[in-house]
Amino acid sequence: MNQNIQQMIHKIRTQQKPSKDDLVHLLGCEPSSATALFAAADSARRRYVGDEIHLRGIIEFSNHCRRSCRYCGLRKENTNLKRYRMGGEEIYEAALAASRNGCKTIVLQSGEDSYYDADTIARAVKMLKKLGLAVTLSCGERPEEEYKYWRQAGADRYLLKHETANPVLYSQLHPDMTYNNRLGCLTALKALGYQVGSGCMVGLPGQTAKDLAEDLLLLKELDVEMAGIGPFIPSPHTPLADASPGTAEMTLKMIALARLLLPQAHLPATTALSTIDPLGRKKALQCGANVIMPNVTPQPYRHFYEIYPNKDREEARHADCRQQVETLVHSLGRSVAKTPGHSPKQQFTRERQGESIA
Ligand code: 5AD
Repeated sequence: MNQNIQQMIHKIRTQQKPSKDDLVHLLGCEPSSATALFAAADSARRRYVGDEIHLRGIIEFSNHCRRSCRYCGLRKENTNLKRYRMGGEEIYEAALAASRNGCKTIVLQSGEDSYYDADTIARAVKMLKKLGLAVTLSCGERPEEEYKYWRQAGADRYLLKHETANPVLYSQLHPDMTYNNRLGCLTALKALGYQVGSGCMVGLPGQTAKDLAEDLLLLKELDVEMAGIGPFIPSPHTPLADASPGTAEMTLKMIALARLLLPQAHLPATTALSTIDPLGRKKALQCGANVIMPNVTPQPYRHFYEIYPNKDREEARHADCRQQVETLVHSLGRSVAKTPGHSPKQQFTRERQGESIA
């Protein structure tokens, strides 16, 4: 049995097109086999991206959103949420503080909020680049020209999760969006030279192991530089408030398999995972993950970026404090990276473009 699992792990690591059946089998495997899977992922992580853990400081600069995603607390129909927007000066202050706390990358994340036009975002990008920071944008679906404009302004990376690779489930969850458009945005971002992050939720209502295998195969096909994988957590005041959450075990298996399929990718230990399992962050870092995303949004706003419940409590417990992060990282025998942590895959391209990769 265990030999069978080892063979599957080997195939998944080495085949250009891994078998969906093997992935489904591993996603359903029993705990003793999962231990072998986690060990293989941890060893691939060490070999391909090393022992450094990258800190990506997230600034959640607006919780306004024009979308109606059925799982998300920021959906526009949620009138129970106090909405806020941060100005340029506030973003600057938050980024400066994060940089002093060791973050080499700032992620500017928001709901889909057209209040911030292309120029406003471009100005924010330039301001952060002047601080010597790598910049990741995560502002949802925008016209390709805007993606291009922000790339020219200096944005290094873009984060746009595909959420689920099952097109039927995708359309059920996103009444005002299409799966094809999502993939179109991801393809456009890639073509513009962004380091692209995508990812999915685990345990969505109606989602099967086959769907999760498709998520992994899509991430491989897109050849993403980063993959964010977290459990679905039912959020009050949304249509899915009474649904069951995803499990930590399945999320960890997904992270481990993502590491085997995309050995050089950056994989965060997500806040969502530690919200459902107090040891989730540590466990993820031991089965493939190599990134922590501390929330560096100013305190008065944090509570209102409630995509799912208790997110801010979990962030306060864990990742927003340099000391706590260092203690966790050192307890694992690892170190906090001192470089921006650009994708190892892209170094050649970046050097060719004459950019500093220090
Ligand atoms: N549970 C878990 N993750 C969620 N997200 C949004 N709502 C939820 C939820 N209820 C995630 C989505 C989105 C990111 C901003 O937050 O993956 O891309």
